[in-house]
Amino acid sequence: MNALLQNVDRVLISQEELQKRVRELGAQISADYHDLNPLLLCVLKGGFLFLADLSRALTIRHGVDFMAISSYGNSTVSSGVVRILKDLDTDISGRHVLIVEDIIDTGNTLAYLLENLRVRQPASLRICALLTKPARRQVPLHIDYVGFEIPDEFVIGYGLDFAEDYRNLPFIGVLKREAYASSP
Ligand code: IMP
Ligand code: MG
Repeated sequence: MNALLQNVDRVLISQEELQKRVRELGAQISADYHDLNPLLLCVLKGGFLFLADLSRALTIRHGVDFMAISSYGNSTVSSGVVRILKDLDTDISGRHVLIVEDIIDTGNTLAYLLENLRVRQPASLRICALLTKPARRQVPLHIDYVGFEIPDEFVIGYGLDFAEDYRNLPFIGVLKREAYASSP
């Protein structure tokens, strides 16, 4: 863990703040989706810890399913290229679908995903994002549930990676610039 921690510039959102906000979101979503048996659609890989905690914060019946999408490769800059690496197992037609995302940056990934999912005719389609960087948005998006708005900095931890590292950090941290400037 120390090798990971030495590349963290600072903690942006602590473990306690994350847990408190996830509990609040869980309560709100439980109230909004009461009796609707929503499907939580986790966008892998970054959303895996958020989904795990959010699911446990819900007091209502719900399903979970996973989609893997690639937009970045091993870079901190959006390539604009979106690929589906793993599709859903569930037929979402007529289902109330809540997309669970780690972070919305330019919005390109989500815009693509929304278009792809709408064709499958879910009963409703909403977005829950742990983090959003509004300053970076290239596509206008309405995000129904937001954990935290953050500044334009590259963050890691609580599921978010840089080149597959740092996902296990229990907080959201800002990565030191030299940590990605020196990466191949
Ligand atoms: P977008 O298409 O630009 O909105 O990018 C969305 C995806 O890029 C997220 O789901 C993340 O996987 C990744 N991403 C964007 N910003 C960050 C960041 O600060 N840290 C880690 N991953 C990020
Ligand atoms: Mg993501």
